[in-house]
Amino acid sequence: MACSSAAMAWRASVRARALPTSRWTQRPATILPKRVERYPGASRYASESAAPAPTEAVKETAKDTVKEAAKETAKENAKEIPRKAGRGSRKALYTTSLALTLLVGYIYGTDTRASIHRYGIVPLIRLLYPDAEDAHHMGVDNLKMLYQFGLHPRERGEPDRDGALSTEVFGYNLSNPIGISAGLDKHADVPDALFDLGPAIVEVGGTTPLPQDGNPKPRVFRLPSQHAMINRYGLNSKGADHMAAVLKQRVVDFAYAAGFGQQELSEQRVLDGEANVPPGSLVPGKLLAVQVAKNKLTPDSDIEAIKRDYVYCVDRVARYADILVVNVSSPNTPGLRDLQAVAPLTAILTAVVGSAKSVERKTKPYVMVKVSPDEDSTEQISGICEAVWRSGVDGVIVGNTTNRRPDAIPKGFVLPEEEQKTLKETGGYSGPQLFDRSVALVARYRALLDQGPPSSTESENSENAVAKAPSDVPRKVIFASGGITTGQQAHAALQAGASVAMMYTGVVYGGIGTVTRVKQELRKELTK
Ligand SMILES: Cc1cc2nc3c(=O)[nH]c(=O)nc-3n(C[C@H](O)[C@H](O)[C@H](O)COP(=O)(O)O)c2cc1C
Repeated sequence: MACSSAAMAWRASVRARALPTSRWTQRPATILPKRVERYPGASRYASESAAPAPTEAVKETAKDTVKEAAKETAKENAKEIPRKAGRGSRKALYTTSLALTLLVGYIYGTDTRASIHRYGIVPLIRLLYPDAEDAHHMGVDNLKMLYQFGLHPRERGEPDRDGALSTEVFGYNLSNPIGISAGLDKHADVPDALFDLGPAIVEVGGTTPLPQDGNPKPRVFRLPSQHAMINRYGLNSKGADHMAAVLKQRVVDFAYAAGFGQQELSEQRVLDGEANVPPGSLVPGKLLAVQVAKNKLTPDSDIEAIKRDYVYCVDRVARYADILVVNVSSPNTPGLRDLQAVAPLTAILTAVVGSAKSVERKTKPYVMVKVSPDEDSTEQISGICEAVWRSGVDGVIVGNTTNRRPDAIPKGFVLPEEEQKTLKETGGYSGPQLFDRSVALVARYRALLDQGPPSSTESENSENAVAKAPSDVPRKVIFASGGITTGQQAHAALQAGASVAMMYTGVVYGGIGTVTRVKQELRKELTK
């Protein structure tokens, strides 16, 4: 009995010591001497089983130990609970702040109006990606990934809703007259993400019949002081079958999301306009242009083979396009620009128009030809216009990159040594220096096309080509491309006779908010 009360007292003291207070568990060395000091001989109880019966004093001591331990624990808990509560509210504060920061960051970072895109992201990309092509791939890949997660930048607040910029093109009422031109989305990876940046036209491609690598790298160069570029990509393409598959999947996904189901028929219903959206863009007030070109290895002298190249592409992608663009103006495919002569151009365009007309879709895609800014003699321009009339093509994109090396801006500016070297690279030059020539060329095409078909014009496509008075035939549509970077320039291009002002290099240097900014500037121009 005496033995068991001693054991109980020990266990009590051990339990008391074992109470899970942080002080006790963290600092045993500081606690043990205290116990020894307070209860001399306590260690004996634990080791000596045959100890004499505990006296009253010992029992009291044991009780005291338990009480003391309980008090200590209560004190510790009293301190710990507010500390824990403090930690809890701090944690909540941090979590809320983090969530708010992420939300504000998301709203700001995904708004095309945010100046960080132009003044932060663009310089950062240039710094991190000295090779302009790497920067291009990174940009497209990231935009694609962000779009998949709904985190892509977009135009907020529907600025086009007031209709101030709306314009009619090919019978469609477009939300605005701004476009993104070919080459930025070469493989149709991000047409929807590009539409969300604000343009009414997105041109994807150019695509070629067979996949081709293009020229060896490096093949894209920056001239930062000029906000210009030189590229000799050479129409690198994954091929028309690839592009058709990507565009088809896009329509299938759209059809499913719009409640048309997943059958083959659903795709056709969307393409036939049952969703009340243009079959290419799938967005009201916007149009998707798909650019086609020939393979580099198709011989320049074999016009039949060249026609087959273009028709092959059209047969694959036309179903998914609102506008088909025939590229005969890239400076980086040898012999391509020679196809702008009247006879070959008429033959190619006639074949393309014929193929576009046979697309299985209620509305057929319109066809445009993209011409070079370098073939600009009166003879060359009238030859192209003649081919346009004879083939029944609906419009012209004026123009493309130039083989010329324009004067620096501002006048008299001397390029840094590095850029003077870059200027010697082979390839097409693009950027603001093209603007004056582009706008002048647009005006010349406008004037010539508005004269109607040349009287000698014989219809190659009897259905499409024209032998009527100019007033009876639809006006040929012009899109301007070359050096447009501001709303004032877009306005000038429209005034010169274009229906749409397209941009590429301006977006590279201005960032993903460029279209929104240019439209805002254009609105101001229109109210002047
Ligand atoms: C890197 C790069 C790639 C291009 N790729 C194509 C292309 O595949 N097809 C095409 O017709 N134009 C292509 N272009 C030309 C542009 O679409 C545009 O017509 C030209 O750059 C002039 O406009 P900008 O001064 O606004 O850039 C490319 C331009 C650049 C800078």
